[in-house]
Amino acid sequence: MAEETIIELREVAKYYPMAGGLVKAVDGVTIKIKKGEFIAIMGPSGSGKSTSMNLVGSLDLPTKGQIFLDGKDIAHLDESQLAQIRGKKIGFIFQGFNLIPNLTAKENVMLPMLFQETNEEARERKAEELLGMVELRDRADHYPNQLSGGQQQRVAIARSLANDPDVILADEPTGNLDTQTGEKVLKFLDEQKNKGKTIIMVTHDPELAMKHAERIYWVKDGRIIKTTARHAGKWKEL
Ligand SMILES: Nc1ncnc2c1ncn2[C@@H]1O[C@H](COP(=O)(O)OP(=O)(O)O)[C@@H](O)[C@H]1O
Ligand SMILES: [Mg+2]
Repeated sequence: MAEETIIELREVAKYYPMAGGLVKAVDGVTIKIKKGEFIAIMGPSGSGKSTSMNLVGSLDLPTKGQIFLDGKDIAHLDESQLAQIRGKKIGFIFQGFNLIPNLTAKENVMLPMLFQETNEEARERKAEELLGMVELRDRADHYPNQLSGGQQQRVAIARSLANDPDVILADEPTGNLDTQTGEKVLKFLDEQKNKGKTIIMVTHDPELAMKHAERIYWVKDGRIIKTTARHAGKWKEL
């Protein structure tokens, strides 16, 4: 069976020139992710995980190296093509939930659909359906500050799925949640993987990574220090 590569990074680096010297947030990362994989990027705080995610999500451009999404080198795309990709192909889930405070749960979920060609009624129906999927239909008219952290993160998951993206990028999706609530959030990511979506999850929690991912990139100081993969229930270093 041909396994399709959906994301590829080749020797990608992101450097920040700062007064104190060059900060090498990402420093030569090469990875290949296949369609439908659940990948974890594991590393301590400051190791370049969020920077890598922003590069994969084309929220930021690399200093060096190449990033391919669906075989297309993103360096060769203009801003409107990048916006298309971000809007349609990729769903983002952030550690801090990043919901818009003055919009209701339903309006937050509808927001990414605003830029697509659906009418308001269709957007509303889809948002209600997605909120139902994360078991929050009865909270559709609540504002973020009227929801618990776990509920806010489930709204963020519903929002990330609004445009039915191929890839879900989750940056420490359970970082601000207790273990039990975090597991509930992961359950929805597992379900998306089972539906064929590609999941990339950043975490500093090795247990979480090993429980849900099939492959883990262990990063430190902007570099991959090892890659492990699960085969028949056992983790092996590649
Ligand atoms: N915009 C920026 N300007 C300067 N340095 C940055 C910027 N973003 C991140 N960094 C630095 O790059 C390193 C990696 O950051 P980050 O990717 O946020 O790490 P992680 O998500 O693993 O905690 C850190 O040392 C951080 O201070
Ligand atoms: Mg981070």
